[in-house]
Amino acid sequence: MNTFIELVQQRQSDRAYLQRDIETEKLERILEAGRLAPSACNGQPWKMIVVRDEKIRNEVAATTSDIIVSSNHFTRLAPVQIVIVEESSNISSKAGSWAKSKHFPHFDLGILAAHLCLAAADEGLGSCIVGWFDEKKLRKVLEIPKNKRPVLIIVVGYSTQKTRPKIRKDKSQIISENKY
Ligand SMILES: Cc1cc2nc3c(=O)[nH]c(=O)nc-3n(C[C@H](O)[C@H](O)[C@H](O)COP(=O)(O)O)c2cc1C
Repeated sequence: MNTFIELVQQRQSDRAYLQRDIETEKLERILEAGRLAPSACNGQPWKMIVVRDEKIRNEVAATTSDIIVSSNHFTRLAPVQIVIVEESSNISSKAGSWAKSKHFPHFDLGILAAHLCLAAADEGLGSCIVGWFDEKKLRKVLEIPKNKRPVLIIVVGYSTQKTRPKIRKDKSQIISENKY
């Protein structure tokens, strides 16, 4: 069994996948890890649209590339896409967001995405968070109401990529003690 830090080291953005579906039990556990994610005031301002149908997956993938970013074509290779839609939060979270000038659902949705990706890694699967897509087109493909925002797509599948060392800032740049 992996320790948590091993799982964190193993998780990476995978951009090439085997043409093999993922087991439904694995997907269920990944979605459960998402469902259990924390959120401001437990508002759970999310909906996860699971896309497994090949035709719809291709349509979703087509929304992720354009003349500025063409590198997202890999999204069509993954057998599963989880589209995260921002939903309305509860009144306490909304009040907190307003009082503190922080849109708490953005944090909530980021944590949800992290849960999904780490859970995928725990199942021996690769994943990638995709934030670059044509929102309008995606809304049309998935029949998302106009007043709802799809914010992230998580692609999941059996990766063909080797685990890479992480490129990250040095501790000294990002951690300080007792003062800024
Ligand atoms: C909010 C967010 C949006 C991202 N959008 C994309 C994307 O559109 N395409 C892509 O290939 N990777 C995307 N990524 C993946 C990042 O590029 C990746 O996490 C980062 O370079 C660190 O690499 P690692 O995930 O392999 O550790 C996104 C990551 C986050 C957190």
